[in-house]
Amino acid sequence: MVRVIVGTQFGDEGKGRAVEFLAPHTQVIARYQGGANAGHTIHINREPFVFHLVPSGIIYPHTLCIIGNGVALDPEELIKEIKVLKQKGINIENRLFLSLYAHIVMPYHKSKDDLNNSIGTTHRGIGPCYEDKCTRIGIRLMDLLSPEILEEKLKHNLSIFNSFNLEFKSIYEQYLSFGKFLSPFVTDTAVLLNQWIDEGKEVLLEGAQGLLLDIDHGTYPFVTSSNPHSGGACCGLGISPTRIDEVIGVTKAYTTRVGKGPLPTRLSPEIEKKVREFGKEYGATTGRPRRCGWLDIPLLHRAMMVNDIKQILLTKLDVLDKLPEIKICKEYKDMDAQWYNSANLETLEPIYETLPGWMTPTQNIRKYKDLPTNAKRYIERISELLGVKMMAIFIGPQKEDSIEL
Ligand code: GDP
Ligand code: IMO
Ligand code: MG
Repeated sequence: MVRVIVGTQFGDEGKGRAVEFLAPHTQVIARYQGGANAGHTIHINREPFVFHLVPSGIIYPHTLCIIGNGVALDPEELIKEIKVLKQKGINIENRLFLSLYAHIVMPYHKSKDDLNNSIGTTHRGIGPCYEDKCTRIGIRLMDLLSPEILEEKLKHNLSIFNSFNLEFKSIYEQYLSFGKFLSPFVTDTAVLLNQWIDEGKEVLLEGAQGLLLDIDHGTYPFVTSSNPHSGGACCGLGISPTRIDEVIGVTKAYTTRVGKGPLPTRLSPEIEKKVREFGKEYGATTGRPRRCGWLDIPLLHRAMMVNDIKQILLTKLDVLDKLPEIKICKEYKDMDAQWYNSANLETLEPIYETLPGWMTPTQNIRKYKDLPTNAKRYIERISELLGVKMMAIFIGPQKEDSIEL
């Protein structure tokens, strides 16, 4: 069975936890796009740990993990992550596989990202790295293993980016050493993945960011530079759409957004403050406060439709425990057109349905039937409005804080 995990909002829905939740029944986990702009948090021995590149399922010793060709790979970040995982006693030898076709984030990508950042990016060089990929001057992981090719490409690219005053020799030596460190993990991951699917292994394809940050389907231009969309999994890993059995959405029980761009259902400052505090809504990668909003059904509908999502994991329900009333944006006023963009989203007026809160802690609940009635009403209303089933509800940040349905 091959399943894709997709964020259905503006990222940070809890994808890291969703992968951790499904990993015990999964043999292969493959990340397909984005880069170290992602921050996927889980808890290891009750301590938070943020994954930027490696799939969070690596914590289970039985899993095989892939970083695919579609990922903008920052070797420095990856090496840091590998070293910390080793310190935590997580063995990655013969378990982590990196695509030799993945494009490398270079120092000039980060400089360029810092310089031209009108949309509030994570400054991880992601857009400029994909830009080089598309203009066909990108440096790929395989190039870090070939000194002559790296020299030629780096000299050429530095001549283009020379306004950043970056020095060839130190970058060349540093990236060759990154290549040396990573070489045992580098392989043609598309061959491996197709073979593992043929063998009938249980496979999860892990997206970063979320549908509304998708370069094609998100709130352009306030988006990331790749396709978190389920289809991105095919391009970013080298498999056919015919290989995918199911797409699972990860949906936070409310909305958050970090960086610029419209957030039509934004909470009043007073409620936002509470939700940000209860939900610890600060960027896992940049530490920026996340803006918070009510659940936005029209935007979620779009995510369900374009990804063909029939099941979701609903996360962070516990964050709403102390709110006396909870709103759901059912539709927008006077929105006849079936399309939206970042300009009309700024002006559209949400029409809300108000549900009573439950004002009861939910974190220790493990069975659906034991949830407060109003929490069940909220969950069932979401399921009804979106026309999807709930696969599980998360009610806290720890591994055990989940209710399987
Ligand atoms: P991702 O990028 O989609 O993996 O999500 P992030 O890790 O950026 O953000 C999710 C945050 O919420 C992290 O701090 C998680 O530890 C936390 N989290 C995940 N699920 C839950 C939940 O059900 N309840 C609470 N309170 N926190 C959660
Ligand atoms: P995860 O995988 C939330 C946002 C940035 C910015 C826009 C473009 O943890 O859900 P970029 O650096 O990608 O060029 O920035 O996208 N963004 C994210 N927001 N979660 C993420 O990843 C994000 N990755 C990028 O804040 O608005
Ligand atoms: Mg995140």
